[in-house]
Amino acid sequence: MANTTLSQRPNTASRTTVFLKLLMATSGAVFVLYVLLHMYGNLKALWGEEAFNEYAHHLRTILMPMLPYGGLLWIIRVVLIVGVVAHVYAAFKLWSRANHARPTRYAVASASKAALKSKMMRWGGVALLAFIIWHLLQFTIVKFNVNGDVSGPDVENNPFGLLHAAFQVWWVVLIYVVALIALGMHLFHGVWSMAQTCGWTSTASRRKAWKTIGAVIALVVSIGFIIPPLAIAFGAI
Ligand code: HEM
Repeated sequence: MANTTLSQRPNTASRTTVFLKLLMATSGAVFVLYVLLHMYGNLKALWGEEAFNEYAHHLRTILMPMLPYGGLLWIIRVVLIVGVVAHVYAAFKLWSRANHARPTRYAVASASKAALKSKMMRWGGVALLAFIIWHLLQFTIVKFNVNGDVSGPDVENNPFGLLHAAFQVWWVVLIYVVALIALGMHLFHGVWSMAQTCGWTSTASRRKAWKTIGAVIALVVSIGFIIPPLAIAFGAI
């Protein structure tokens, strides 16, 4: 009887760990898709006010009249909110499990690099969450003009104006540059962890391929996102 209980405990624990990691991997994959699409959309700002505002308007009319105005945007919002809740829940569960695990001497000696990586992922993730809250307040929920110009852009009808006003301010540009470097690092390690969780890193060539895929996604997203703010800050658009 005692044996059964003992042998069941690690099984249940490791099954829960696998489930939590799969939850992180799946929600993470949804975020990768979203940031790629969002980054691509933001690049429309390079074509100027009319192109960007037309794109922002088009986002709200996709699948009309099957969906109401802004319907697809709301579906995406719900998917993202569910994804964030799942990702953060699984991260904190895994975090507290790792803290409660009793380290063996082997684990302590061999895991310092992995421990640094998971520390970076955890604190980087917390910083990204703070950035996303700021970002949503700035561009979606409150839509405020950081330079305090109350006669600034008509935020409802001119999203380009809001973007343009925001990136005239050097510290806003700095927040975005730092956040996008953090996002790049998070994506690089996140893509690798997802591949490991899914068992796609069993051979040297697969490991190399996933490192490359992670690096390409991280670079494309970070550089693609940062181009419009820098172009605005340096007066190119
Ligand atoms: C330079 C970088 C970025 C710029 C200039 C930017 C710009 C914008 C703008 C203008 C909106 C409002 C869109 C609209 O209402 O039509 C928006 C919404 C949003 N952004 Fe970003 N974004 C950036 C980076 C990011 C990143 C890195 C993330 C996530 C990791 C993100 C997540 C979101 C989300 C979730 C929304 C809300 C969409 C909605 O429900 O309306 N953005 N962004």
